[in-house]
Amino acid sequence: MSTGGDGLIRLDGVRKEFGDVTAVEQVDLQVNQGEFFSLVGPSGCGKTTTLRMISGFETPTRGSVHIDGQDMAGVPPDARDTNLVFQHHSLFPHMTVGENVAYGLEKAGVDADERERYVTEYLELVDLDGYEDRSPDDLSGGQQQRVALARALVNEPSVLLFDEPLSSLDRKLRKQMQVELRKIHEKTQGAFFYVTHDQEVAMTLSDRLAVMNEGRIEQVGTPEEIYREPASEFVADFIGDTNLLEGQAVEADGRTTVEVGGDAGFSFDPAERVSPGEVTVSIRPEDFRLAENGDATFEGEVVERYFQGDQTNYVVDAGADGLSDVQVVMQGRDSPVSPGERAGFAIEPDAPVVFER
Ligand SMILES: Nc1ncnc2c1ncn2[C@@H]1O[C@H](COP(=O)(O)OP(=O)(O)O)[C@@H](O)[C@H]1O
Ligand SMILES: [Mg+2]
Repeated sequence: MSTGGDGLIRLDGVRKEFGDVTAVEQVDLQVNQGEFFSLVGPSGCGKTTTLRMISGFETPTRGSVHIDGQDMAGVPPDARDTNLVFQHHSLFPHMTVGENVAYGLEKAGVDADERERYVTEYLELVDLDGYEDRSPDDLSGGQQQRVALARALVNEPSVLLFDEPLSSLDRKLRKQMQVELRKIHEKTQGAFFYVTHDQEVAMTLSDRLAVMNEGRIEQVGTPEEIYREPASEFVADFIGDTNLLEGQAVEADGRTTVEVGGDAGFSFDPAERVSPGEVTVSIRPEDFRLAENGDATFEGEVVERYFQGDQTNYVVDAGADGLSDVQVVMQGRDSPVSPGERAGFAIEPDAPVVFER
């Protein structure tokens, strides 16, 4: 186990080229001891390649990887204090659950008594106590995934690396496994580095996450920071749902106003300083509310309504450029506006995030 220091995992200026394909442009990251850290981004953005450079299965073309303060250049995967869990967990079918979990320990020369003690402890941790003598074939997909997890945890690596480990499970099981993973993480000391294209999973699980796009990190932060204060249009769009609206920042009498949708649209005073010119405005669907006492930011016709149980989603046509399909979410039981009806909508003044173009 490690002391952490200035990041248990540290990537400095890491780049990876495969021939003339640049899989990772430039990555700088620090993951701390005890942290559940996710790397999230669309398929092909370079997540797996980044993870493979941490585990040692790929060598950076440029830059360095440090684990626990030690430069990993030239250190092979099995000499690194990391273990990897991925989607196809590849348990050995001819071995029992216990033998599968003990496999790495046996290779490391741990004696039989001690192996048994560890196997019992880690099967208990993943909620599979008493499954030692079962065959992996007799287990459900979720149980097999938990065995794979116990096998990765049993030799107590400082860093556990996950590459989309839940993506082959159905939705309900995936939710269950997320809760399990979080609990298991709390009981272990090391860092979890979790790669996924699923922003919802990353948001739910992580202490902090990095959003990756085309081989670069666009933002690192807590789920709340990333959701509330996206650093770029890409992040605003990729994490959660949002309306991305084209607008214009205009300065008059020493005061800046953002206009959206031209003359027929609406305007607001941005919460933070914006230079005059073309902008893109991100407004989350839940940042709208029904207007009351004439405080509407804009009026529009409800063109669609989707009842979702705990919330109702609307599509609103505000009758202006780029405002024909504004996504609006209302929480709670009421669904007071029907398709075809007109209504006024208001936004909280600090809700819109403005990106200069
Ligand atoms: N061994 C390789 N040879 C050539 N190109 C690769 C190789 N591995 C990955 N790539 C390319 O690098 C990019 C990033 O891939 P990858 O890291 O697997 O992304 P992700 O895990 O985010 O989907 C993709 O364009 C992919 O095709
Ligand atoms: Mg991948």
